Amino acid sequence: MKSVVVKQPGGFENLVVIEKEAPTPKAGEILVQWHATSLNYHDFLVGVGGIPVPDGRIPMSDGAGEVIGVGEGVTKWKAGDKVMSLFFPNWIEGRPDLPKTMFVNGETVDGFITEQSCLSAEAVTTIPNGYSYAQAATLPCAAATAWRGLMVEGGLQAGDSVLIEGTGGMSIFGLQFAKAAGARVFATTSSEEKAKRLKDMGVKSVVNYKEDERWGKTIFKLAGGGVDHVLDVGGGSTMKQSIEAVKIGGHVSSIGILSGGRKGEITFPKLFFKHIRLIGIAVGSRVMQEKMVAAINTSGIQPIIDKSFGFDQLGEAFKYQASGQHFGKIVLEW
Ligand SMILES: NC(=O)c1ccc[n+]([C@@H]2O[C@H](COP(=O)([O-])OP(=O)(O)OC[C@H]3O[C@@H](n4cnc5c(N)ncnc54)[C@H](OP(=O)(O)O)[C@@H]3O)[C@@H](O)[C@H]2O)c1
Repeated sequence: MKSVVVKQPGGFENLVVIEKEAPTPKAGEILVQWHATSLNYHDFLVGVGGIPVPDGRIPMSDGAGEVIGVGEGVTKWKAGDKVMSLFFPNWIEGRPDLPKTMFVNGETVDGFITEQSCLSAEAVTTIPNGYSYAQAATLPCAAATAWRGLMVEGGLQAGDSVLIEGTGGMSIFGLQFAKAAGARVFATTSSEEKAKRLKDMGVKSVVNYKEDERWGKTIFKLAGGGVDHVLDVGGGSTMKQSIEAVKIGGHVSSIGILSGGRKGEITFPKLFFKHIRLIGIAVGSRVMQEKMVAAINTSGIQPIIDKSFGFDQLGEAFKYQASGQHFGKIVLEW
């Protein structure tokens, strides 16, 4: 059985394919034949050594595959069931705490760029009806985060307005969930071509964040007094503008740190005089993922897959992700 592992100190040249013995499920576990994974910025950081992992760690937090065996006591799944992973294998339901979130697939425990692995029968969900493995593998990190930001933490209602930033995987799912729920969507991007694609997907107004440094004010005006919800992906590089863009009493989910935005400035009076709800979120629980799958089954949303690579092309896929050319998700299938 083949797996890709990260050899220290990380970096594209240190992602190597190894042969391992096929595992056998213990009591309470399932054995899954994985068929696809998808790239998230978190996986990219693990791959390039930006998030240190033990030597030999199998990266990639997203996986979709078929159950091919079950351990003693497992009644929930049977051979042939199609499943997908969770980002936090221990977070089943309720609010997050340390025991629920200390394990992260593809970082603190092995991830899913492997032909087979055993995991707890509690640490997967079904995939949406009619989805391929590649489509399902786009969901556990990016889509679940957008879902939680808008629907769980934001409590999005039909008629609300939403700002998505950039055209990466998480943001495009934010756009799709917002549209499906009847919201007006605003977006930022860095290219004319991507702006056109966003408009084709029903985005009302798009602002180029490279040409308009004060894009937050521009979005505020375009939305007629700010948007109800912002999915912030840049952290220090975007949060100041996200706070400008949101309406009084609106909500901002702090999700990412793109463009080197690990630290940054916030104009605090803007935060409190605008009565903003600012929440940090890291993906979500299994219950949130299950509700998202139910919503996808009803709405029929199809993930936007920009490009697909093979099992032994992880380094190439990361290089493509780093080029920033993609719109939506990048997947690997085997
Ligand atoms: N907290 C969580 O649970 C969670 C979960 C998923 C993702 N994230 C975070 O969300 C962010 C996006 O993740 P992803 O996996 O969707 O990444 P991705 O697919 O690699 O998205 C990258 C895209 O972000 C856009 N971008 C880069 N700098 C930007 C900026 N300053 N302002 C606006 N857009 C910018 C670019 O879009 P354009 O080409 O259109 O300019 C780029 O193509 C990352 O920081 C990631 O860590 C967090």
